Amino acid sequence: MRLLLPMPGNETMAAALAMRTPAELGSLETRRFPDRESYVRIVSDVGGREVDLVCTLARPDEQFLSLVFAANTARDLGAKSVRLIAPYLAYMRQDKRFKDGEAISSVHFARLLSETFDGLVTIDPHLHRRRDLGEIFTIPTRVEHAAPLLADWIKDNVELPLVIGPDAESEQWVSAVAQQANAPHIVLTKQRFGDRQVEIAMPDMARWRGRRPVLIDDIISSGRTMIEAARQLRDQGLTKPFCLAVHPMFAEESYAELLALSERVVSTDTVPHVSNAVSVVGLLA
Ligand code: R5P
Repeated sequence: MRLLLPMPGNETMAAALAMRTPAELGSLETRRFPDRESYVRIVSDVGGREVDLVCTLARPDEQFLSLVFAANTARDLGAKSVRLIAPYLAYMRQDKRFKDGEAISSVHFARLLSETFDGLVTIDPHLHRRRDLGEIFTIPTRVEHAAPLLADWIKDNVELPLVIGPDAESEQWVSAVAQQANAPHIVLTKQRFGDRQVEIAMPDMARWRGRRPVLIDDIISSGRTMIEAARQLRDQGLTKPFCLAVHPMFAEESYAELLALSERVVSTDTVPHVSNAVSVVGLLA
């Protein structure tokens, strides 16, 4: 029977997956040595078994070495295969050299994961300039999409919604969400000038006054994109928006700031967060 091994912080997701799949829930221990190096010990018997490490990759730098040690240890101890179930896949947004000398981190990260795992399962990786993960990964990858779940949530919870995508690249999936939620949609124009600096161009919204805005994005990271869009909706006198995202990263104070401008903030559980209201367990299972 397949063995699910949660990295720290992923126990709830792994337990939920074990309930939905013919897999056993295992355990491993991690801690820091006094000098902050990482200690890993696999408690379950992995010999001859297919092992899935469950680890969302939000804030990846803090846990990446432990994850690699866990995968390599599973192999040392005789695991037949070691896959990664990463509900959120990090480092996909730095997919080009925007300035001379920059690392194209998505390629390097994909290479590291490909060297470590036999396969990868994830939800909505940020693919902007790539068609699919196969362009940068050398292992089999399986991608599932949360958009239909968000569309169902809108249908069940929002009266007369207007679905709003924050930038041109969101058009394709935002229009699909809107269609499934039987709602009109618009897409804004965004320019990013730095990690925490974005400018959003919003058209005159007077004709949408009778609708409830639903801002939707794949990732909320610094939060600036959503916050800026929500602020402009307020300035144009629309009702407070529902703000929906697949991956709720929420750096620094951004959640509180967005909450103050929103009717409600809703996310999926690809990253554990107080705003989680839609579960991707079914997709991953
Ligand atoms: C960008 O291309 C993505 O779709 C998101 O709009 C972006 O990553 C959000 O980032 P932030 O929350 O830092 O504005």
